[in-house]
Amino acid sequence: MGRWFAALYDTVMAPLERGGFQDIRKQLLRQARGKVLEIGSGTGVNFPYYTEAEHVIALDPEPAMVERSLRRATHAAVPIEVIVARAEALPFADHTFDTVVGTLVFCTIPDPRQALCELQRISTPGGTALFFEHVRVHRPLVGRLQDWLTPVWKHVAGGCHLNRDTLALITQAGFTVTCIAPHYKELFLVIAAKPSAPPIG
Ligand SMILES: C[S@@+](CC[C@H](N)C(=O)[O-])C[C@H]1O[C@@H](n2cnc3c(N)ncnc32)[C@H](O)[C@@H]1O
Repeated sequence: MGRWFAALYDTVMAPLERGGFQDIRKQLLRQARGKVLEIGSGTGVNFPYYTEAEHVIALDPEPAMVERSLRRATHAAVPIEVIVARAEALPFADHTFDTVVGTLVFCTIPDPRQALCELQRISTPGGTALFFEHVRVHRPLVGRLQDWLTPVWKHVAGGCHLNRDTLALITQAGFTVTCIAPHYKELFLVIAAKPSAPPIG
């Protein structure tokens, strides 16, 4: 699954990228400052849009994805290092990153709660979390259609769940959401959030 998914990803996504995703990524990622961690970076589609970051570490558990992303990392405007790792077990010390980024990834991560817990742990106090995700829609008919399609869809789309309520997961994980911008009739959300402050003492 991994190798062919990686090989087809950019081609399948190209119409969506041209149809609006590129603009969304550009707006979102210019807010990424300081030391940045991107989870589930895939083929590196976000890499050209980092302009203000000091340094980006990007990770993905799928070696075929990482391999494909290396060329984009080399041509990026800021230094980008790509590693093979899972968002649920981040190989970094507490409070390392000023900005954490996830785009179209929480639909796929097997344990999104654990991944969000890890993002809390490695974020600096006062840091920023930037997400662009598709989510379960709160309109009954569309939401039920997403529930119905997910068991089949996840087998053809690399584990993607169409019906994750990622906004709820983000708030339940203790992030304070500072901005939500809906796109495509609320099927996609751009979310900016702040990690919770570490306990005093
Ligand atoms: C739909 S692709 C999104 C790629 C890219 N972020 C984008 O915006 O187009 C989902 C990515 O999440 C990665 N992924 C799957 N499980 C993961 C995990 N546990 N931790 C981090 N990334 C994961 C997949 O390998 C894949 O590259």
